[in-house]
Amino acid sequence: MKNLLIVANTPSENTRALAQATLRGCQHPDIESVASVHLEPLAATAEDVMKADGIILGTTENFGYMSGALKDFFDRAYYPVLEQKQGTPYALYVRAGLDGSGTIIAVQRIITGLRWKSIREPLLLHGAYQNQFEHDCEELGTLMAASLDAGVI
Ligand SMILES: Cc1cc2nc3c(=O)[nH]c(=O)nc-3n(C[C@H](O)[C@H](O)[C@H](O)COP(=O)(O)O)c2cc1C
Repeated sequence: MKNLLIVANTPSENTRALAQATLRGCQHPDIESVASVHLEPLAATAEDVMKADGIILGTTENFGYMSGALKDFFDRAYYPVLEQKQGTPYALYVRAGLDGSGTIIAVQRIITGLRWKSIREPLLLHGAYQNQFEHDCEELGTLMAASLDAGVI
């Protein structure tokens, strides 16, 4: 069994729906050997990262940056996982009101240090909320889980 970890903050009804859609995608019925879990960044620890074979990060953009919760997760987990988790496949989604670019740059800068491996370009969900965002998150979850399941990442 492989472990897929979603670390995503959910301060609103919409962002809760996005995290749930991502998890639903990870748990697609065709995927047999991947166990997926969603944790709030404030609850996620370095030990959770150590156990993960793949990670999906989800964050709101707040004041042009990632959420304080995701930043706190990195503050706590960065050094404890740095050496052993290089090459870990990851994906990112960002929910922003209008922008999101500052958040993508900030997360990617940290990931460059961690040397995690991106499985696709960041998913930016900005503008007025659309149900399509949930489809996009579900697809992202399935892509990561199916790739882990097939052993191609
Ligand atoms: C304190 C605060 C700061 C925010 N700063 C930004 C920002 O800098 N750029 C942006 O695009 N959206 C910003 N937003 C909008 C949030 O990203 C957005 O409301 C959040 O992702 C939740 O999405 P929802 O409104 O669809 O639930 C901010 C929201 C809050 C509450």
